[in-house]
Amino acid sequence: MQPALRRVIYVSHTVTDPDEPIGPVLASILTAARRNNPRIGVTGALLYTARRFAQVLEGPPEAVEAIFETIQCDLRHDHVTVLEVSAPTVRAFADWSMAFVADAPVRAETLGEAGGAAELLAMLQAAIRNTEAATA
Ligand SMILES: Cc1cc2nc3c(=O)[nH]c(=O)nc-3n(C[C@H](O)[C@H](O)[C@H](O)COP(=O)(O)O)c2cc1C
Repeated sequence: MQPALRRVIYVSHTVTDPDEPIGPVLASILTAARRNNPRIGVTGALLYTARRFAQVLEGPPEAVEAIFETIQCDLRHDHVTVLEVSAPTVRAFADWSMAFVADAPVRAETLGEAGGAAELLAMLQAAIRNTEAATA
């Protein structure tokens, strides 16, 4: 039997000063994710666009719950809204400790509404496939 998996998809707003560059914030988040996530078996994808984050976290249920708890308390974002908590049979981002997508063509409403989770997941997977193709 496959080990149990949990997937959490949420959206949030960055609280970074709009006059400050976002680059160092993104770099620090991705450095932490790529350092910590492999150790706890978590994979996923992070989108940053229009001052919003969207993130997919996948892995063993207790690991996903623990890292999501930490992320939720992170003062670099607020308005954390969970769009999906599910138990998938396979990971959508198995090869990524944390894939990163910037400025993806996502409808603004998708980042705000429950029910946008499926669209968000599909868009992130397509964006990442394009990245792989571009660098292959
Ligand atoms: C939008 C967002 C996404 C994040 N994603 C992750 C993540 O996937 N993994 C992670 O370890 N930290 C993530 N963080 C950072 C954590 O909140 C926290 O700062 C970090 O885990 C601390 O790591 P450290 O104890 O190794 O310094 C994220 C933060 C934000 C604001």
